[in-house]
Amino acid sequence: MTFDLKSYLENRRAMVEAALERVLPPEAAPPTRIHQAMRYSVLAPGKRLRPILVVAGAEAVGGRAETVLDTACALELIHAYSLIHDDLPAMDDDDYRRGRLTNHKVFGEALAILAGDALLTLAFRLVANNAARIAPGVVGLVVAEVADAAGTDGMVGGQVVDIESEGKTISAEMLDYIHLHKTAALIRVALRVGAVLAGGREEVVDAISRAGEALGLAFQIVDDILDVEGNLAELGKTAGSDERKQKATYPSVHGLPASKARARDLIEETKRLLTPLGPSAEPIRALADFVLERRS
Ligand code: IPE
Ligand code: IPE
Ligand code: MG
Ligand code: MG
Ligand code: MG
Repeated sequence: MTFDLKSYLENRRAMVEAALERVLPPEAAPPTRIHQAMRYSVLAPGKRLRPILVVAGAEAVGGRAETVLDTACALELIHAYSLIHDDLPAMDDDDYRRGRLTNHKVFGEALAILAGDALLTLAFRLVANNAARIAPGVVGLVVAEVADAAGTDGMVGGQVVDIESEGKTISAEMLDYIHLHKTAALIRVALRVGAVLAGGREEVVDAISRAGEALGLAFQIVDDILDVEGNLAELGKTAGSDERKQKATYPSVHGLPASKARARDLIEETKRLLTPLGPSAEPIRALADFVLERRS
């Protein structure tokens, strides 16, 4: 029987969304406006790819979803913070996200900045919750790895070079630096910490990490392609944003056909890197196909 990705995604997405609802401060808690702003962006319809990858990483080494849900939520909160800040006028200046007006359009820039800050902070609080169940050394490692993936050696570093490269012609190497840092770092660490928290052996965790990096790069290439070929109704965000900001993207540096070919190759590589894991990695393989075929 082939793996049923649709039911898997629906089930894990529902688990993640119930957990997000539980970990976010209630709207009525003071100061209410920031809690509304945090919930507005996080609970908007997103694919939940990163938290589902945490779960799939754990399951691939024999762990259970329930034991990694706090960490799965942490990755989604970091991602949501990055989207709120990415959309700000000082960054990509976008009006729509997840089918809604962007956070700053509704709550104003000050609240949007603070909501991002609060989500990033809450994420590390959630990772710390693991200390109740998991050896302190492992929890410390996970904190360090998530921090590295989110910081200047990861997502923030990639975002800086992305902004600095607007309107410039950059090398293919520099473009890969941007994509590997701004996007692949968080996707890689999502899979990786899932496997680490579930007690995966080092060789297996390393194979999963390499697969996560290839998957993450493919993910951003497809994001770039969809910015050219997609539309607001499907994407929930305005297409053509990259061209307007003269961003360095895969289509702008390599052209559309080569970008599509590279995304396909990277998904094949992702699956090849997962070969040693056998059937337990089937959800990750199916997620890799989803990343390539997605329209949103
Ligand atoms: C968008 O991420 C930002 C990128 C890193 C390309 P997603 O496409 O995963 O956005 P959501 O979570 O589904 O809204
Ligand atoms: C953003 O890349 C990556 C992040 C770290 C948020 P983009 O700027 O291309 O993401 P979208 O297209 O706005 O979602
Ligand atoms: Mg951006
Ligand atoms: Mg953007
Ligand atoms: Mg984009």
